[in-house]
Amino acid sequence: MEIYRGHIVYSKNSKELEEISNGYIVVNNGVIQDVFKELPTQFSEEKIIDFGKGVIIPAFSDLHVHAPQYPNRGIAMDALLYDWLNQYTFPLESKYQDEEFAKQVYSAFIDNLIKHGTMHAVVFSTIHNQASDILIKGLEDKGILSYVGKVNMDKDSPDYLIEETTQSIKDTENFIKKHLNNKYAKPILTPRFAPTCSFELLKELGELADKYHIGCQTHIVESLWEKEEAKKCFKDCRCDMQIYEEAGLLKNKPFIAAHFIFPSEEDIALLNKCEGYAVQCPDATTNVIAGIMQTGKLLDTGINLGIGSDISAGSYLGIYRQVASSVRLSKIKSFYEPDNRIISFNEAFYMATKKSGALFGKVGSLEKGYSFDALVIDDLEDDFITLKPTEIVERFCYSGEVSNIKHKFLRGKEI
Ligand code: GUN
Ligand code: FE
Repeated sequence: MEIYRGHIVYSKNSKELEEISNGYIVVNNGVIQDVFKELPTQFSEEKIIDFGKGVIIPAFSDLHVHAPQYPNRGIAMDALLYDWLNQYTFPLESKYQDEEFAKQVYSAFIDNLIKHGTMHAVVFSTIHNQASDILIKGLEDKGILSYVGKVNMDKDSPDYLIEETTQSIKDTENFIKKHLNNKYAKPILTPRFAPTCSFELLKELGELADKYHIGCQTHIVESLWEKEEAKKCFKDCRCDMQIYEEAGLLKNKPFIAAHFIFPSEEDIALLNKCEGYAVQCPDATTNVIAGIMQTGKLLDTGINLGIGSDISAGSYLGIYRQVASSVRLSKIKSFYEPDNRIISFNEAFYMATKKSGALFGKVGSLEKGYSFDALVIDDLEDDFITLKPTEIVERFCYSGEVSNIKHKFLRGKEI
């Protein structure tokens, strides 16, 4: 058993943060046994690990990140989606035929993910099986709760990054079989997006979903170009989500819809029906997509919303900064389209912790029964004014650095 003392902040619900100044967290076998304002006398003989002015918060979940694009983070940002994919992203992804390159990048990616306070993630790989094995094994070895997908793309892609449909399905099934019984890093189907997938491919992925009971991640209505292209490629479908429904890809959980920026009423209804998650990726939105998610409106429909770094359309791996950017973008959206309300900081923090954590199990909060996956943040206050613990958390999300994360815990173990 361990007892930690410090300020404690976590999401009570979608609108409110719990704030306990100078509180105590009792952890047993990696699970939070209790949280106290005053330590009960039964514990008075126990050793206490004191974080002083540090604030204990839940570790973050990244619901949309492309591990192979890590070497391009913060560069190649001068194009919009279609050109960005063709000029910068596809050429980089083709390098993952080389297992040595994959090993180097994925090891650095995973280390940096953890360094930035992310302990749970939904991750894209590339079309390459060996490299995808390296990625999922790396995450499994570090104990990162995650869904990891070998990408499928069998049309309208460059010659150097395209699969033949039958081989793509074979490779995917091999990938699933190999990793289905992993403890932490689980396989997930990953058709890249509608423009690069044939209906035959999606249908067969739907069969794999049923056979192995696994979910699916993809990009949904991410840009006006993609939305129109999807409709052109799948003439019988009225909207992007319907393509995946027709293919049988909405039946197994989880379904992760990255971006979801231009949804029709039907897209929203279908995502709600399969209890999928839409993922707000604020940096990607401004860097290469040029559209803003209707976050406030979607939250009010009751849809599940999470937050993603979307490296390398997004340029920063720390989800905490994406929390702040989600609030910022909702203000711009609301200014230009007043029927979209502004979201609060508390709502965005909830999306990145408790709400998205629910995808992986009892993670994303500091309540009794949750895994102690936590960060201790500090050095965010000035000497001349005292902040409340919730204000320190907000400042961390707006202007924090990796160096403000002083301790990291995964299932109770400091890493
Ligand atoms: N749509 C298809 N592929 C990608 C990708 O790699 N990143 C983003 N942001 N959108 C995509
Ligand atoms: Fe993406």
